[in-house]
Amino acid sequence: MSTEEIGSYFNEIADRWDGMNHCSGEKLRRIVALAGIQKGDKVLDLACGTGVLTGYLLEATPHVTGLDLAENMVALARKKYADTSACFLCGDFYSFQGKCFDAIILHNAYPHFEDKEKLVLCLARALERGGRLVVAHSLGKDHLNRVHQGRVGNLCRALRAVEVEADLFKDAFSIDYMADEEDFYAFSGTKIGKFIRR
Ligand SMILES: C[S@@+](CC[C@H](N)C(=O)[O-])C[C@H]1O[C@@H](n2cnc3c(N)ncnc32)[C@H](O)[C@@H]1O
Repeated sequence: MSTEEIGSYFNEIADRWDGMNHCSGEKLRRIVALAGIQKGDKVLDLACGTGVLTGYLLEATPHVTGLDLAENMVALARKKYADTSACFLCGDFYSFQGKCFDAIILHNAYPHFEDKEKLVLCLARALERGGRLVVAHSLGKDHLNRVHQGRVGNLCRALRAVEVEADLFKDAFSIDYMADEEDFYAFSGTKIGKFIRR
């Protein structure tokens, strides 16, 4: 899978995305709570798409930046949140230079990041010392993996048990929460002090 292929897939389906996905407010608030956001914190809604999570992040802090590869997804998010303080950037997180975020939330997008080692480095680089990371899905992994079969299957990797995925983050993050439920999947943690930002 290449980022170009992922970007063009999501550009193609951008107009339909909000109709295809029904994430309950309850789950989205549960995800935001895991980030432990304080008013005034700088938060990155990573792979924000059309901004499904953004409104819930804005309830916690006005300083929300959304980043996504697909310009059509970003255009819809910008339109949706035009009257808010949220700002949206179009780009590939693997080459993102933004820094000093207090929290990063990756919602419903983790399987699209093939190079997990690089993902961990980029996340650690973008976060403040002690910054919070949340990786979450509004579906359980079996359901999600079924949804990802077929065309989307070429654009993502299957989600494995939460302990296996969270273990990839242990050099840079102190993981303090894991959920691998029938209809919810998440892990979260804090960037560890000794991990040097590059
Ligand atoms: C399944 S959508 C989820 C969008 C949104 N987070 C949501 O919950 O509706 C996955 C998103 O990840 C984005 N994405 C995938 N790889 C990316 C990368 N390397 N950098 C930035 N965004 C990326 C895609 O463009 C797509 O919009």
